[in-house]
Amino acid sequence: MLSSKHEKVMEIAKRRGFIWPAFELYGGVAGFYDFGPLGTLLKEKIIQKWREYFVIREGFFEIDSPSITPEEVLKASGHVDHFVDAMTECKKCGAAFKVTDLVKEKTGRSVEGKSKEEMESLIKEHEIRCPECGGELGEIYDFNAMFETTVGAGKKKIAYLRPETAQGMFIDFKRLQRYARGRLPFGVAQIGKGYRNEISPRRGVIRLREFTMAEIEIFFDPENPTHPEFREVASEKLRLLLATDQERGTEKFTEATAEDALRENIVCSQLMVYNMARAKLFLTSLGIPEEAIRFREQTPGERAHYSSETWDVEVWTEGFGWVEVAGLAYRTDYDLSRHAKFSKEDLTMFVQDEGGAGKKILCHVVEPSYGIDRLLYCVLEHSLSEENGRPLLRLKKELAPVQVGVFPLLKRDGLPEKAREVLKKLRSEKFITEYDDSGSIGRRYARADEIGVPYCVTIDHRTLQDETVTIRDRDTKDQIRVKIGNLPRVLQELLENRVEFQQAGELVLPKSKAESTERR
Ligand code: GLY
Repeated sequence: MLSSKHEKVMEIAKRRGFIWPAFELYGGVAGFYDFGPLGTLLKEKIIQKWREYFVIREGFFEIDSPSITPEEVLKASGHVDHFVDAMTECKKCGAAFKVTDLVKEKTGRSVEGKSKEEMESLIKEHEIRCPECGGELGEIYDFNAMFETTVGAGKKKIAYLRPETAQGMFIDFKRLQRYARGRLPFGVAQIGKGYRNEISPRRGVIRLREFTMAEIEIFFDPENPTHPEFREVASEKLRLLLATDQERGTEKFTEATAEDALRENIVCSQLMVYNMARAKLFLTSLGIPEEAIRFREQTPGERAHYSSETWDVEVWTEGFGWVEVAGLAYRTDYDLSRHAKFSKEDLTMFVQDEGGAGKKILCHVVEPSYGIDRLLYCVLEHSLSEENGRPLLRLKKELAPVQVGVFPLLKRDGLPEKAREVLKKLRSEKFITEYDDSGSIGRRYARADEIGVPYCVTIDHRTLQDETVTIRDRDTKDQIRVKIGNLPRVLQELLENRVEFQQAGELVLPKSKAESTERR
């Protein structure tokens, strides 16, 4: 019997092909997961929605740069020196641990940004020992979380797998600002893998060593950190957990509209708070309820070396508590000034102010950075419900990995042949479909519900007479009959919420009757 929601989600995720432990054949490696066929489709849909929501709507540019990054880039960006975790090893069994995790688990206290001495004294004070074998813990030392590699043969060049996609945007800044033709602000996005050699990843898909990031760097004039469409989100309510409150040891939210958060100087700029409000709207569009979203301000000790203000966008999960799914960082001109200094290139930009006078500026940057894998887990957890003791994945229709199930009512009487004809037609119209002819129709509907298929099309004896099929709605279990000729159009309209289900065809059976038919 699976007790927690997390166990239920992961059981379905593994059994039905959303998420699998990677390298399973050889015992697996912590921090690496494969996305199975359904997970790959779902991930792609989340990415597509992100792209529509941020890149297309905002008129940003998207680029794609290499994962392997030469050392000098990451020296300039500060990652070689500062992208480190405090680590300790067990003197007895040799297991390695991230000190901040150990202390947090044992005491509930965050020691991010604290000195080595402070961490050591907390370990002593709370008698923290190895969670694996109870052995004594060794000295704390810094561990750089980047994966190191080399490029080429002979006199090899040191490089790292990128810890963030962001550096690709900073390195290309000169070309990008020309592409933007002097317009500010402009945003550049990148979706791709990021890599972090986590010391002891023990939170399943939440803490991965290789993960998909979707990042945007918004370059702007520091004298004008505004967004032209701010009014559209000004009254959006945000639940904010302030750094000062966390330092006082409370987890109480401050509720404020985007406009008030700006007016009361809780958030540093209009551009920043605009992106926070948009983050909330994006998450709710994925099916995450508003009350499960909060913005947590990072304390100064926690912030990355490049940031002067960071808000984590967090989603409540039963499996892992609050999970950071995005970070919004005010990176100031840190990256551009460092790259200008290290590369000896001029990375300023010439802009014209409203009076027509020109000036040279070093752009500042606000960065919204999303973790796609974590989002995918949160979407699954928030979509999973139960109906009559059976799992039902109420995914938003536009996220459903399989859009249409196609079922012959029986495996005889020419129904499978007709069903395959319908399947072919739907596939040629680019619907993502699944054909299922095994077991009772009720079982097939249940299997489809478990992976969130919004509509199931059934081919029955009447189909052979009048070329109509039934469409069954995942959430209401209502069924309508439509002509095969109209099927692609009707399904498209249903998937895009352009028509009410009951109005889309001839209603077959009242809900209660349809339910009992399914169970037979
Ligand atoms: N670029 C944001 C991060 O590395 O977390």
